[in-house]
Order: sequence, then structure tokens, then C-alpha cells
Amino acid sequence: MRVTFTVNGRRETADDVWEGESLLYVLRERVGLPGSKNACEQGECGSCTVYLDGVTVCACLVAAGQAEGREIRTVEGLADGDRLDAVQEAFVECGAVQCGFCTPGLVVQAHDLIERIPRPSDAEIREALAGNLCRCTGYEKILDAVRLAAARKAGDR
Ligand code: FES
Ligand code: FES
Repeated sequence: MRVTFTVNGRRETADDVWEGESLLYVLRERVGLPGSKNACEQGECGSCTVYLDGVTVCACLVAAGQAEGREIRTVEGLADGDRLDAVQEAFVECGAVQCGFCTPGLVVQAHDLIERIPRPSDAEIREALAGNLCRCTGYEKILDAVRLAAARKAGDR
């Protein structure tokens, strides 16, 4: 089947998509956007998180056909050209990245949190990121990064 959708502002078409194929596979293997990671492929880890029509989803759980006519934004689409988004910058500055496998999903999820709640409490950060697993960092640096990004976006720092 053919699937047509918009990703990061660009119209894309994928041909010969198998009915059981995931949106994650289409993004990574057909559209050339490998930022979203495939760590579990069963909705457990959050490393494949993308926006679908403005709502964060696990791309591994979305059938490619469900993306027909819809708008997707991936971690690659958060930066403004060469200028990183504040969340991406904060992850780098705070050392919130080790192997990096969880990072794209966490960045998208944190980006969404700060859009919805510009000054999130620690409890709100923990709750928002509860579906994103990281086996390297112990999460403290990730929390630091989200606090920093929120403060910067709110103009506090
Ligand atoms: S790869 Fe999608 S949730 Fe883990
Ligand atoms: S940095 Fe390795 S899983 Fe999070």
C-alpha cells in the first residue's frame, strides 16, 4: 500500500508498505529519519516517541497506515535549522546523554511537557517521562536538563 503523510513539514510518500509495518520502520528505513530509535518495538521504552498530529506516541505501536494524511514531527524536526531546540541544548549541557539510545524519545517527550506546562514541577517531569526508560544515566541529569530547558524557555535563565 502507499502511505502519504507530512513529516517535519515535508510531504512524504512511502510505497509498498506492508499492512503490519510500523510508523517507526517507515520513518527510519523509508524516509531516512533514524533519530527515533527502535529499542523494544513493543511500546515499553519510549525511545521511538514522535508527535502524531501534535500528540506524543510510540511510533513502534502506530501502524504505518494510520499515519495516512497526518502530521508527524520527529526529534529531527525540533531544531530550527542548525539551531538546536532548548531541550536538545540542555541535554547536551547537562550531560544527560550516555549511550544516547533513549535520548530522542526523552527529548520529544520533554519538549511536549514544556509546551503543555511551561514551568513543570519535579513530580510533573517524573510523571511525563515515566514511559521513557534509560538504562545509563540514573535519570538525575535528565531531570536537570528538563529543568534547565523549562527555565530557559520561560525566560527565567
Ligand atoms: S521502541 Fe517503541 S516503545 Fe520501545
Ligand atoms: S543514555 Fe543510554 S539508555 Fe539512556
